Amino acid sequence: MVGRARRPGLRYHRAGIPSGRIQRQIDQRTDMLAGVSHDLRTPLTRMKLQLALLDGVDGADELKEDVDEMEHMLEGYLAFARGEGTETPEATNLTELLDGVVAQARRKGGVIDLHSEGELMVPLRPDAFRRCVANLLDNASRYADHVTIRAGTRGDAIEVTIDDDGPGIPADRREEVFKPFYRLDGSRNPGTGGVGLGLTIARDVLRGHGGDIDLSDSPTGGLRARLRLPL
Ligand SMILES: Nc1ncnc2c1ncn2[C@@H]1O[C@H](COP(=O)(O)OP(=O)(O)O)[C@@H](O)[C@H]1O
Ligand SMILES: [Mg+2]
Repeated sequence: MVGRARRPGLRYHRAGIPSGRIQRQIDQRTDMLAGVSHDLRTPLTRMKLQLALLDGVDGADELKEDVDEMEHMLEGYLAFARGEGTETPEATNLTELLDGVVAQARRKGGVIDLHSEGELMVPLRPDAFRRCVANLLDNASRYADHVTIRAGTRGDAIEVTIDDDGPGIPADRREEVFKPFYRLDGSRNPGTGGVGLGLTIARDVLRGHGGDIDLSDSPTGGLRARLRLPL
Protein backbone atom coordinates (compact mmCIF):
# COMPACT_ATOMS: atom_id res chain seq x y z
CA MET A 1 0.00 0.00 0.00
CA VAL A 2 1.56 3.24 -1.08
CA GLY A 3 1.78 6.08 1.41
CA ARG A 4 -0.58 4.50 3.94
CA ALA A 5 0.23 2.44 6.99
CA ARG A 6 -1.21 -1.05 7.28
CA ARG A 7 -3.73 -1.30 10.06
CA PRO A 8 -3.08 -4.11 12.49
CA GLY A 9 -5.82 -6.70 12.80
CA LEU A 10 -6.99 -6.44 9.18
CA ARG A 11 -6.30 -9.13 6.61
CA TYR A 12 -4.66 -7.74 3.51
CA HIS A 13 -4.97 -8.75 -0.10
CA ARG A 14 -1.73 -9.05 -2.08
CA ALA A 15 -2.30 -5.60 -3.57
CA GLY A 16 -2.35 -4.12 -0.08
CA ILE A 17 -6.10 -3.55 0.08
CA PRO A 18 -7.87 -4.92 3.16
CA SER A 19 -9.68 -8.08 1.99
CA GLY A 20 -12.88 -7.15 3.86
CA ARG A 21 -13.11 -4.08 1.68
CA ILE A 22 -12.65 -6.16 -1.48
CA GLN A 23 -15.42 -8.49 -0.35
CA ARG A 24 -17.68 -5.51 0.36
CA GLN A 25 -16.96 -4.10 -3.05
CA ILE A 26 -17.73 -7.42 -4.75
CA ASP A 27 -20.94 -7.73 -2.71
CA GLN A 28 -21.93 -4.22 -3.72
CA ARG A 29 -21.31 -4.88 -7.39
CA THR A 30 -23.15 -8.18 -7.20
CA ASP A 31 -26.16 -6.46 -5.61
CA MET A 32 -26.04 -3.81 -8.27
CA LEU A 33 -25.89 -6.44 -11.00
CA ALA A 34 -28.90 -8.19 -9.51
CA GLY A 35 -30.81 -4.90 -9.40
CA VAL A 36 -30.00 -3.97 -12.99
CA SER A 37 -30.82 -7.46 -14.28
CA HIS A 38 -34.10 -7.42 -12.44
CA ASP A 39 -35.06 -3.98 -13.76
CA LEU A 40 -34.26 -4.94 -17.33
CA ARG A 41 -36.61 -7.90 -17.29
CA THR A 42 -39.77 -5.78 -17.52
CA PRO A 43 -38.92 -3.83 -20.70
CA LEU A 44 -37.51 -7.03 -22.17
CA THR A 45 -40.80 -8.83 -21.59
CA ARG A 46 -42.61 -5.93 -23.30
CA MET A 47 -40.26 -6.24 -26.27
CA LYS A 48 -41.01 -9.95 -26.52
CA LEU A 49 -44.74 -9.26 -26.61
CA GLN A 50 -44.34 -6.64 -29.29
CA LEU A 51 -42.08 -8.90 -31.32
CA ALA A 52 -44.74 -11.59 -31.28
CA LEU A 53 -46.98 -9.13 -33.19
CA LEU A 54 -44.29 -8.65 -35.83
CA ASP A 55 -44.46 -12.28 -36.90
CA GLY A 56 -43.25 -12.67 -40.49
CA VAL A 57 -41.79 -9.15 -40.70
CA ASP A 58 -38.26 -8.96 -42.14
CA GLY A 59 -35.62 -9.19 -39.44
CA ALA A 60 -38.07 -10.04 -36.66
CA ASP A 61 -36.59 -13.52 -36.18
CA GLU A 62 -33.07 -12.19 -35.65
CA LEU A 63 -34.38 -9.61 -33.22
CA LYS A 64 -36.25 -12.32 -31.38
CA GLU A 65 -33.07 -14.39 -31.09
CA ASP A 66 -31.23 -11.38 -29.66
CA VAL A 67 -33.98 -10.74 -27.16
CA ASP A 68 -33.93 -14.41 -26.16
CA GLU A 69 -30.19 -14.23 -25.67
CA MET A 70 -30.50 -11.10 -23.55
CA GLU A 71 -33.09 -12.85 -21.45
CA HIS A 72 -30.77 -15.82 -21.04
CA MET A 73 -27.91 -13.53 -19.98
CA LEU A 74 -30.09 -11.74 -17.45
CA GLU A 75 -31.15 -15.07 -16.00
CA GLY A 76 -27.47 -15.91 -15.73
CA TYR A 77 -26.64 -12.70 -13.87
CA LEU A 78 -29.56 -13.16 -11.54
CA ALA A 79 -28.59 -16.78 -10.91
CA PHE A 80 -25.05 -15.65 -10.12
CA ALA A 81 -26.27 -12.95 -7.76
CA ARG A 82 -28.57 -15.43 -6.05
CA GLY A 83 -25.94 -18.15 -5.87
CA GLU A 84 -28.17 -20.66 -7.69
CA GLY A 85 -28.38 -22.87 -4.63
CA THR A 86 -32.01 -23.89 -5.07
CA GLU A 87 -31.84 -26.49 -7.82
CA THR A 88 -31.72 -30.06 -6.48
CA PRO A 89 -29.35 -32.64 -7.97
CA GLU A 90 -30.94 -35.39 -10.06
CA ALA A 91 -29.62 -38.41 -11.97
CA THR A 92 -28.68 -36.86 -15.31
CA ASN A 93 -27.49 -38.32 -18.58
CA LEU A 94 -24.36 -36.21 -19.06
CA THR A 95 -23.96 -37.26 -22.70
CA GLU A 96 -27.44 -36.01 -23.56
CA LEU A 97 -26.90 -32.81 -21.60
CA LEU A 98 -23.65 -32.10 -23.48
CA ASP A 99 -25.34 -32.89 -26.82
CA GLY A 100 -27.91 -30.21 -26.09
CA VAL A 101 -25.44 -27.55 -24.96
CA VAL A 102 -23.14 -28.24 -27.92
CA ALA A 103 -26.04 -28.05 -30.39
CA GLN A 104 -26.97 -24.65 -28.99
CA ALA A 105 -23.37 -23.41 -29.16
CA ARG A 106 -23.13 -24.60 -32.77
CA ARG A 107 -26.22 -22.62 -33.65
CA LYS A 108 -24.35 -19.55 -32.40
CA GLY A 109 -21.55 -20.35 -34.85
CA GLY A 110 -19.13 -22.44 -32.78
CA VAL A 111 -17.14 -25.18 -34.53
CA ILE A 112 -17.24 -27.90 -31.91
CA ASP A 113 -16.36 -31.61 -31.86
CA LEU A 114 -17.99 -33.63 -29.12
CA HIS A 115 -16.68 -37.01 -27.89
CA SER A 116 -18.54 -38.62 -25.04
CA GLU A 117 -17.70 -42.07 -23.74
CA GLY A 118 -20.96 -44.00 -23.61
CA GLU A 119 -23.87 -43.29 -21.32
CA LEU A 120 -22.66 -41.23 -18.38
CA MET A 121 -25.30 -41.03 -15.64
CA VAL A 122 -24.30 -38.50 -12.98
CA PRO A 123 -26.13 -36.73 -10.15
CA LEU A 124 -26.22 -33.11 -11.37
CA ARG A 125 -28.05 -29.84 -11.04
CA PRO A 126 -28.82 -29.84 -14.75
CA ASP A 127 -29.58 -26.14 -15.32
CA ALA A 128 -26.52 -25.01 -13.41
CA PHE A 129 -24.28 -27.53 -15.13
CA ARG A 130 -25.65 -26.60 -18.54
CA ARG A 131 -24.89 -22.96 -17.83
CA CYS A 132 -21.37 -23.85 -16.74
CA VAL A 133 -20.57 -25.79 -19.94
CA ALA A 134 -22.29 -23.14 -22.08
CA ASN A 135 -20.09 -20.44 -20.53
CA LEU A 136 -16.94 -22.41 -21.32
CA LEU A 137 -18.00 -23.20 -24.89
CA ASP A 138 -18.95 -19.58 -25.35
CA ASN A 139 -15.47 -18.46 -24.27
CA ALA A 140 -13.72 -21.09 -26.37
CA SER A 141 -15.72 -20.28 -29.51
CA ARG A 142 -15.16 -16.59 -28.98
CA TYR A 143 -11.39 -16.79 -28.75
CA ALA A 144 -10.67 -19.81 -30.95
CA ASP A 145 -11.66 -21.36 -34.29
CA HIS A 146 -11.94 -24.99 -33.22
CA VAL A 147 -13.21 -26.46 -30.00
CA THR A 148 -13.11 -30.06 -28.82
CA ILE A 149 -15.08 -31.29 -25.84
CA ARG A 150 -14.57 -34.74 -24.32
CA ALA A 151 -16.34 -36.46 -21.47
CA GLY A 152 -15.48 -39.72 -19.77
CA THR A 153 -14.68 -41.52 -16.53
CA ARG A 154 -11.16 -41.04 -15.16
CA GLY A 155 -10.48 -43.05 -12.01
CA ASP A 156 -12.94 -41.94 -9.37
CA ALA A 157 -14.24 -38.91 -11.26
CA ILE A 158 -16.08 -37.87 -14.37
CA GLU A 159 -13.94 -35.54 -16.43
CA VAL A 160 -15.03 -33.10 -19.07
CA THR A 161 -12.26 -31.33 -20.99
CA ILE A 162 -12.77 -28.42 -23.33
CA ASP A 163 -9.84 -27.71 -25.66
CA ASP A 164 -9.45 -24.80 -28.03
CA ASP A 165 -6.85 -23.50 -30.47
CA GLY A 166 -7.05 -19.83 -29.47
CA PRO A 167 -4.50 -17.60 -27.71
CA GLY A 168 -4.93 -19.34 -24.32
CA ILE A 169 -4.45 -17.62 -20.97
CA PRO A 170 -0.93 -17.01 -19.57
CA ALA A 171 -0.20 -19.36 -16.65
CA ASP A 172 0.12 -16.47 -14.17
CA ARG A 173 -3.41 -15.22 -14.93
CA ARG A 174 -5.20 -18.56 -14.73
CA GLU A 175 -6.37 -18.05 -11.16
CA GLU A 176 -7.30 -14.41 -11.59
CA VAL A 177 -9.70 -15.05 -14.48
CA PHE A 178 -11.97 -16.89 -12.03
CA LYS A 179 -12.52 -13.72 -10.01
CA PRO A 180 -15.84 -11.95 -10.50
CA PHE A 181 -15.76 -9.23 -13.18
CA TYR A 182 -12.15 -10.00 -14.05
CA ARG A 183 -11.29 -9.92 -17.75
CA LEU A 184 -7.98 -9.97 -19.56
CA ASP A 185 -6.99 -6.89 -21.57
CA GLY A 186 -9.95 -5.82 -23.69
CA SER A 187 -7.74 -5.01 -26.66
CA ARG A 188 -7.63 -8.71 -27.47
CA ASN A 189 -11.36 -8.96 -27.95
CA PRO A 190 -12.93 -5.65 -28.86
CA GLY A 191 -16.68 -5.56 -28.92
CA THR A 192 -17.36 -8.69 -26.92
CA GLY A 193 -20.19 -8.50 -24.45
CA GLY A 194 -18.92 -10.50 -21.49
CA VAL A 195 -18.70 -8.91 -18.06
CA GLY A 196 -16.19 -11.33 -16.55
CA LEU A 197 -18.59 -13.67 -14.78
CA GLY A 198 -18.46 -16.71 -17.07
CA LEU A 199 -15.59 -18.51 -15.37
CA THR A 200 -16.67 -17.34 -11.91
CA ILE A 201 -20.04 -19.00 -12.43
CA ALA A 202 -18.48 -22.10 -14.00
CA ARG A 203 -16.22 -22.69 -10.98
CA ASP A 204 -19.05 -21.94 -8.58
CA VAL A 205 -21.18 -24.61 -10.26
CA LEU A 206 -18.41 -27.24 -10.19
CA ARG A 207 -17.57 -26.56 -6.54
CA GLY A 208 -21.28 -26.72 -5.74
CA HIS A 209 -21.10 -30.29 -7.10
CA GLY A 210 -18.08 -31.18 -4.97
CA GLY A 211 -15.77 -30.90 -7.98
CA ASP A 212 -13.61 -28.21 -9.48
CA ILE A 213 -12.39 -26.69 -12.70
CA ASP A 214 -8.83 -25.88 -13.69
CA LEU A 215 -7.12 -24.31 -16.68
CA SER A 216 -3.99 -25.46 -18.50
CA ASP A 217 -2.33 -25.47 -21.92
CA SER A 218 -4.28 -27.37 -24.51
CA PRO A 219 -2.49 -29.85 -26.79
CA THR A 220 -4.44 -28.10 -29.58
CA GLY A 221 -2.53 -24.87 -28.89
CA GLY A 222 -4.98 -22.78 -26.84
CA LEU A 223 -6.69 -23.20 -23.51
CA ARG A 224 -7.80 -26.43 -21.83
CA ALA A 225 -10.55 -26.23 -19.22
CA ARG A 226 -10.85 -29.43 -17.22
CA LEU A 227 -13.98 -30.12 -15.18
CA ARG A 228 -13.84 -32.84 -12.55
CA LEU A 229 -16.87 -34.31 -10.85
CA PRO A 230 -16.13 -36.84 -8.12
CA LEU A 231 -18.20 -40.03 -8.41
N1 LIG B 1 -10.91 -19.99 -24.05
C1 LIG B 1 -10.30 -18.84 -23.75
N2 LIG B 1 -9.21 -18.41 -24.45
C2 LIG B 1 -8.60 -17.25 -24.15
N3 LIG B 1 -8.98 -16.42 -23.15
C3 LIG B 1 -10.05 -16.78 -22.41
C4 LIG B 1 -10.76 -17.99 -22.66
N4 LIG B 1 -11.77 -18.09 -21.77
C5 LIG B 1 -11.69 -17.00 -21.00
N5 LIG B 1 -10.66 -16.19 -21.37
C6 LIG B 1 -10.25 -14.92 -20.71
O1 LIG B 1 -10.73 -14.94 -19.39
C7 LIG B 1 -11.54 -13.79 -19.14
C8 LIG B 1 -12.68 -14.15 -18.21
O2 LIG B 1 -13.59 -15.03 -18.83
P1 LIG B 1 -15.10 -15.02 -18.35
O3 LIG B 1 -15.11 -15.16 -16.86
O4 LIG B 1 -15.87 -16.02 -19.14
O5 LIG B 1 -15.58 -13.56 -18.67
P2 LIG B 1 -16.07 -12.88 -20.04
O6 LIG B 1 -16.24 -13.95 -21.06
O7 LIG B 1 -17.35 -12.24 -19.65
O8 LIG B 1 -15.00 -11.88 -20.38
C9 LIG B 1 -12.02 -13.33 -20.51
O9 LIG B 1 -12.26 -11.95 -20.52
C10 LIG B 1 -10.84 -13.71 -21.40
O10 LIG B 1 -9.89 -12.68 -21.37
MG1 LIG C 1 -17.15 -15.69 -20.84
